[in-house]
Amino acid sequence: MTSSRNEGDLDQASLDLFIAGDESRSASRTDETEPRSPKEVAPDSSDPLRDISRLEELAAVAVECRRCHLRETCNAVVFGEGNPEANLVFVGEAPGADEDRLGRPFVGRAGKLLDKIITASGLARQDVYITNIVKCRPPGNRTPDEGERNFCIPYLHAQMRIIQPEVIVSLGAAATQGLIDPRARITRMRGTWQQWRGIDVMPTFHPAALLRDPKKKIPVWEDMKTILGHLGLSDGEEPG
Ligand code: URA
Repeated sequence: MTSSRNEGDLDQASLDLFIAGDESRSASRTDETEPRSPKEVAPDSSDPLRDISRLEELAAVAVECRRCHLRETCNAVVFGEGNPEANLVFVGEAPGADEDRLGRPFVGRAGKLLDKIITASGLARQDVYITNIVKCRPPGNRTPDEGERNFCIPYLHAQMRIIQPEVIVSLGAAATQGLIDPRARITRMRGTWQQWRGIDVMPTFHPAALLRDPKKKIPVWEDMKTILGHLGLSDGEEPG
């Protein structure tokens, strides 16, 4: 896939604090002119959701989930949304109050910033898929603990098996710990390619961290440029 933008344009967008670019391009496989080499996500024989092959079906199971106690206090199961054939998936931590109210991921302040990151990348929210490690809001917006993550992660694994994206962006420590390594430190791991079952994973800072510390927008933008380059949407680094 070729891009009409070059790296200079992307740098300009970063200076605008992820303000929208004027074009939209798709990270969906359906828009590719050449087939990409498929990276099969290995089936996990212990996965109780392994026979589910459609996101709608998986969402219906998730809505009924009582594996942990979070469903007792949340309003909605925030399953995820976006392009079911996305090449690019963003994974956050857990829904907050706005997401719990609306049943959609990343629709609060952090979500608005994620939207800007996506738009500045020349993409639209409907081109990518957005979800969380934990689908139910922890009370008081606390970080989900390891047990809650472990109960919920089969849903994310099943989502990735169905979508088969080329790149997963793990946003922040909780997502990176849930997906890659429970001891992962986001400050050390961000910007470095990781692997999850044959899929390239790029950890970067969570948008909420950028709201607290806007200086972190620069490394996040560097990470996005690397990802876009890997997807053939700009010049960038290939994962080593
Ligand atoms: N923070 C997250 O990690 N996920 C959301 O959906 C919203 C905020």
